[in-house]
Amino acid sequence: DRSVKIAPSILASDFANFGAECAAVEAQGADWIHVDVMDGHFVPNITFGPATCAAIRPHIKGVMDVHLMIAPVDPYIAEFAKAGADILTAHVEAGPHIHRTLQAIRAEGMRPGVALNPGTPAEAVAHVLDLVDLVCVMTVNPGFGGQKFIDMSDKIATLRRMIGDRDVHIEIDGGVDPKTAPGVVKAGADVLVAGSAVFKGGSVSDPAPYGQNIRAI
Ligand code: DX5
Ligand code: ZN
Repeated sequence: DRSVKIAPSILASDFANFGAECAAVEAQGADWIHVDVMDGHFVPNITFGPATCAAIRPHIKGVMDVHLMIAPVDPYIAEFAKAGADILTAHVEAGPHIHRTLQAIRAEGMRPGVALNPGTPAEAVAHVLDLVDLVCVMTVNPGFGGQKFIDMSDKIATLRRMIGDRDVHIEIDGGVDPKTAPGVVKAGADVLVAGSAVFKGGSVSDPAPYGQNIRAI
């Protein structure tokens, strides 16, 4: 399904209210829920791990899209499967054995994704495209929400060509808003992660702005 999907990142939501935030943003039209796991090592920020993902899971009706910004990945794959992740995305830069990592994610019953930092060329994932359901193109350097969008249209278009007729999503993560979204969709993206652009102006007690923000993207 190549229709454009919006995946709000709960990194921009109220950390004391993840369950209610997920339910609210889904009710307001979110397609997937994007969950950013950071370890303070692969990226210079710490969020939360598999226990929090497991706690959030019952509050999500649809797809739980877990983005791992951690290294190493392999020792934690089974835990994220148990936590109920539908999609588990690992960075190609996170270790020397991305091929093995993606196979292990599939073997645990999840849909594997591979993410590329802005400085990493499309060619870095050329030999794992048969193993993944999703390629995540970072349009910020990962670690924080609310950063300025970095134009990666060439990389997106290159990846769309490389993917060919495979059934693989291209997800864009970082700085997506109503101004930057049209260009990435035109280049070939079909899943748009957005944190600050979705959650701004709303709250669990006043979620209508979430819906307005989603529709504006
Ligand atoms: C960046 C995260 C993103 C990010 C998106 O490290 O992976 O998911 O928080 O947030 P915005 O949309 O605010 O750039
Ligand atoms: Zn993310």
